[in-house]
Amino acid sequence: MSLASVGTNCSASALPSDVLTTGIYGMKSRLRKAATPYIAVSFALFFFLAECLAQNVRAHDSVEGMRTFLAGMPKAELHLHLEGTLSAETIVEITNRNGIDYFTTAAEVEQSLADRPPGLMGFLEHHFKSQNVMQTRQDFYDATYNLIEKLHENNVIYADLFFDPQAHTSRGIPFDEMFKGIDDGRRDARAKFGVTVNLIMCINRERSVASAFEMLDQAHAVRDKIIGLGMDSGPEYGNPPVKFRDVYARAREEGYFLTGHHDVDVRDSVKHIWQSLDIIGMDRIDHGLNASDDPKLVAELARRGMCLTGSPVKRASDPEPQDIDRIRALDDAGVCVSLNSDDPAEFETGYLTNMLVLFQQASEYTKSDMTRLMFNAFDALWLLQDEKDEYVDVLKEYAVNNDIDWNEVTR
Ligand code: HPA
Ligand code: ZN
Repeated sequence: MSLASVGTNCSASALPSDVLTTGIYGMKSRLRKAATPYIAVSFALFFFLAECLAQNVRAHDSVEGMRTFLAGMPKAELHLHLEGTLSAETIVEITNRNGIDYFTTAAEVEQSLADRPPGLMGFLEHHFKSQNVMQTRQDFYDATYNLIEKLHENNVIYADLFFDPQAHTSRGIPFDEMFKGIDDGRRDARAKFGVTVNLIMCINRERSVASAFEMLDQAHAVRDKIIGLGMDSGPEYGNPPVKFRDVYARAREEGYFLTGHHDVDVRDSVKHIWQSLDIIGMDRIDHGLNASDDPKLVAELARRGMCLTGSPVKRASDPEPQDIDRIRALDDAGVCVSLNSDDPAEFETGYLTNMLVLFQQASEYTKSDMTRLMFNAFDALWLLQDEKDEYVDVLKEYAVNNDIDWNEVTR
């Protein structure tokens, strides 16, 4: 009911008819008596509506306050694929520049994204198509530079960036051309935006062990420019971490940090995580959220301080970001788990700020909780302790300026 309709009901014509036939004093008093409930209801409604309005304003303020807080938060990204950052417009631009008969409009790219089947292999179907547009050194330069500009807009101050050499060299693109494009792009973008980006070269797990060794050979001359060796692509089942045990062993000897993908809900995920801990000796675990299914594994990850790079991404058709319950279970058990955007051009979650906002809204995590998940990312950096501490101090200062108790963050 609106206040206007209450007012109409309070008019004299709405009162009992005998009111009009009595004397002036009696009439006033009867009018007052008759009107009293209407006035009381009007006041009650007025205060009720005013409180609703105030609550809405407060809720809106707190949603906006959280969004502002998450946008301004200094961030680290540890799970981000160069090949998953090409926007529809960039794909079309590169396609036209290279004279390829491929995606010719952004709408075609969007359609391909929308049509992909669910699950890892469905995702990869589109991912392979879009990465294949990159051919020249300039393409890799542009992709890297544009990505780092986006990272800067998201207040990402540090990123480890995956790239997939075999996906490009297998198409006839020389390793050196690809690498120079990426490396020059990150150098120029660092000078312009001040974002530090280290590179993680990934084994495509469906390819042969010999091909992975060949990639290590090709990277030999630029070994000091690549921080780690990872493993991605798929299918994962049938291509477990142990398949590349010798490749990882050599990479370790050559001084690479080691990580690898354990996509969520693929067959034998938990078994693969154990392999990566006990046989490969990985330094981080990418995804790995199925660990929450195995209490012994959860305890072991917490005991070792092993960090998982979670990626609660969301496709357009998903109601909310994936894996929130698993992330909560691992975080509650004291496992270091961070939030990452993975392939921001290929998920509706997009870049990190937006992903954090969607994750927070769905999880109702507090500002301290969100800060802890970001602290985990900084804590997992492959840097010297004092370099790491400098990053953590930037986050801590931001948290304290936002009235956050740091003890709650590092609880
Ligand atoms: N999993 C496996 N391969 C990938 C991914 C991923 O999350 N992103 C890009 N390639
Ligand atoms: Zn990934």
